[in-house]
Amino acid sequence: MNKLCIEGDKKLNGSVTISGSKNAALPILFMTILTEEKIKISNVPNLTDINIALQLLVYLGAKVNYKKILSIDTSFINIFSAPYDLIKKIRGSIWILAPLLARFGQAKIFLPGGCKIGSRPIDLHLNGLIKLGATIDLKDNCINAFVKGRLQGKHILMEKISVGATITIMSAATLAQGLTVIENAAREPEIIDIANFLNTLGANIIGAGSNKIFIKGVSKLTGGHHQIIPDRIETGTFLVAAAVSRGCITCHKTEPKHLKSVLIKLTEAGAHIQTGKDWIKLDMREKQPKALNICTLPYPGFPTDMQTQFALLNTIAKGIGTITETIFENRFIYISELINMGAKIKIKHNSIVSNGIPQLCSSNVFCTDLRAAATLVLAGCIAIGITIVNQTYHLVRGYESFPSKLNKLGANIKII
Ligand code: UD1
Repeated sequence: MNKLCIEGDKKLNGSVTISGSKNAALPILFMTILTEEKIKISNVPNLTDINIALQLLVYLGAKVNYKKILSIDTSFINIFSAPYDLIKKIRGSIWILAPLLARFGQAKIFLPGGCKIGSRPIDLHLNGLIKLGATIDLKDNCINAFVKGRLQGKHILMEKISVGATITIMSAATLAQGLTVIENAAREPEIIDIANFLNTLGANIIGAGSNKIFIKGVSKLTGGHHQIIPDRIETGTFLVAAAVSRGCITCHKTEPKHLKSVLIKLTEAGAHIQTGKDWIKLDMREKQPKALNICTLPYPGFPTDMQTQFALLNTIAKGIGTITETIFENRFIYISELINMGAKIKIKHNSIVSNGIPQLCSSNVFCTDLRAAATLVLAGCIAIGITIVNQTYHLVRGYESFPSKLNKLGANIKII
């Protein structure tokens, strides 16, 4: 998928089933390396990032069977170095490093790729592994990691809250000798899901979801079955789809508890929201959303991965709204595309100020990253006229069947 042709001015109504979380599934796939026994994982989303992760595992020697349930057997892994052409495609490939190092005492990977939304350093990942006893050699964009014997549990204070680095350290510490304590840990639901997965395999992790995680190392992990949590960002994206199109959408197979900050903001925008055990319904019929002031923060704050979608909401809202991005320093590249569609937005340092207009107009726009891609598709669905969205390969990295799910809600999107 490279280009979408979208007929706009549509109200999006109906029900959508939410897929499994990309940001939980990706690290969990790499963590299967930590055990020699067979693993089954359900609710794995069908995405290009996931397929690349599976290709990486197969390259190393794992046996993978991806039907409704994903089966992985990593007992045959005999290669500890991952090829550049796969690693460079996804940011999440950094999570292959710690499991290889913890199980085999060695790992070699190139610096990972992913969305261009800032400098995205990996120093916290590497410093965490060094504190656990690894020797890390960084040369020619290649990370060489070694440890003699087992990694050693340590007290680690994260100088910055990082989802990715918390995951790396947590996975390395499961097979370390002794107790690891991660202070100032990220608290995202994906961290809890990963800890639950590892505990299913016999790891001893307590405190995931709080800012202090305790990992008592074990010498071996077993096999097991795990179900990935629903994707909270996909859920939030469909809720915004209802809000910006003045429609009514129910998201099924989701977890309302993971979207508290997003639901607070959508309510503030004027949406009527109802929730059940595993569903959320948002009704914005006959209403123009009110502009919002938002600041992205680590969980449980407002997610940076919902920044672009709410920027779209502010462009067609009543009033002036400001969104401040505090997690990534370069996450406004897509704004020029919304401006091409008529949005009145000014970028001021790490904030955007939007002066709401009643409706966007169609244009020929280019996706710059994953979340921006979803936002531009939604913008096309509500703009007057035909919008062409280019470079939509970003979309299939993180949203399962996005155009067809939207078409079932009343959109008119054709894949060119
Ligand atoms: C992950 C998610 C991404 C999400 C983000 C925040 C994946 C593949 N990516 O990204 O979708 O937007 O969490 O929820 O799941 N930092 C450092 N050094 C490091 C690591 C991070 O300085 O070693 C900085 C980053 O530049 C950023 C901040 O810490 O400013 C947070 O980054 P982090 O939470 O690690 O995000 P990612 O793991 O990159």
